[in-house]
Amino acid sequence: MSYQISSRFSRRSFLATSLAGFGAAAFGKPLRAEPQIRSFSLRPAPGQARLVPEPYPATPVWGFNGQVPGPELRVRQGDRLRIVVTNGLDEETTVHWHGLRLPNAMDGVPHLTQKPIAPGETFTYEFDAIDAGTFWYHPHQRSFEQVGRGLAGPLIIDESNPPRVDRDVTWLLDDWRLTRDAAIADDFGAAMDMSHAGRLGNTVTINGRVPDVFVVRQGERIRLRLINAANARIFALDFGDLSARIIALDGQPITPHAAPDGVVVLGPAMRADIMLDCPADPGTTLQIVDRAYRDNEFNLLDVVFDETPLRATPPEWEIALPANPLIEPDLNAARRHEILFTGGMMGAMVERQMGPSQSGSMMGGMMGGVVGGGMWFVNGVAAEGHMLDPFLTLERDASHILQMTNATAFDHPIHLHGHSFRVISRDGVPTEFREWQDTVLIAPREQVEIALVADNPGDWMFHCHILEHQAAGMMGVIRVA
Ligand code: C2O
Ligand code: CU
Repeated sequence: MSYQISSRFSRRSFLATSLAGFGAAAFGKPLRAEPQIRSFSLRPAPGQARLVPEPYPATPVWGFNGQVPGPELRVRQGDRLRIVVTNGLDEETTVHWHGLRLPNAMDGVPHLTQKPIAPGETFTYEFDAIDAGTFWYHPHQRSFEQVGRGLAGPLIIDESNPPRVDRDVTWLLDDWRLTRDAAIADDFGAAMDMSHAGRLGNTVTINGRVPDVFVVRQGERIRLRLINAANARIFALDFGDLSARIIALDGQPITPHAAPDGVVVLGPAMRADIMLDCPADPGTTLQIVDRAYRDNEFNLLDVVFDETPLRATPPEWEIALPANPLIEPDLNAARRHEILFTGGMMGAMVERQMGPSQSGSMMGGMMGGVVGGGMWFVNGVAAEGHMLDPFLTLERDASHILQMTNATAFDHPIHLHGHSFRVISRDGVPTEFREWQDTVLIAPREQVEIALVADNPGDWMFHCHILEHQAAGMMGVIRVA
């Protein structure tokens, strides 16, 4: 079976073929008899980046290949990536390929799927690009500091037959806590960040620069790939009079639809592919405004319409993406598992409101002042050190529903490695789009159900992608066997 052929089928006939053979083909054998090998090398190391324009000085950062963000790795669906990572830091590292469904040994989790890469040493990652879409890469060792200092980059997998656009643009969004002389504040792991909303910064960049203007032309259609690489900042981008239609979330195609109220919400690690139509007259200036934090809305950038129009009205080209080879979970046969998140400051209060039977952990709210692990709990356990024992085992190739309850006072973007899952309900109400995601943002006191076929064997990380929460215990291992 080849996804190139199947993606042209209707979804129904496609699912029949994928159920028959995909699971075995995906993670063991290559998708193509002779996949095209695409080689890259990445070297994480200290360097400098000009995040903020003159007269501010350049910022000392950690970057891949001397760049912040790291180079865009771009291949075609079905290609085989071979990425040689040489550690130029003076501490251990790994690279995780966020959102990709790949063999467990290539997942880049220190101590769980590989030995960490020591300073000066090299590790070669090799895997096939099964799904087309917008993904990213980042270290998984002390990520709250390594990612926070700049180690992150886009990984784009092109469809064989992408929808037609005038421009395909990637925006890696990041958030930095800078001092007055544009240095990165050295307070990684501060207890206040760990126990509250994570390390929120004071400087937002797009592709490693404080954005200024984005020049477009009337009638232009842009595929805008948004990646939230921030440690903790949630983005809620209001595209205003630009027509923003969402065509993929976390790399996976979704029924194209207008962004609700024109706003695209991205928790840390999440991605969205937007079809942006630019309807205004030449010379117009529009704004993209971030509305994620009510007391701190800000203009992300000005969208300036060039004097030369491209066309009078937006094109009528098809915008839907071809399906990726995901297996549909069977909700009637699915096993149910409950996962409860507790802890953080103000956690005790929320737990009292929800009642002890739902709170699971009486300690959850009491640990707010402790530095290090032990502030956040997954089913009553705060991970410390190298967590290797799974807290949940999912039977391989069976369908599963994870019912996740956020009994804390904070938002949590919850990420499962090695799989994409459907978000099927929020607070008991079925979701409209049943979106496939790898990271789902769960609001305070919200309950979210996700469903998946556990088709990728191995021990997989499951954690909050607010990296301070992860470091302070909000992670665990899910085994697929
Ligand atoms: Cu983006 Cu466990 O990672
Ligand atoms: Cu969290």
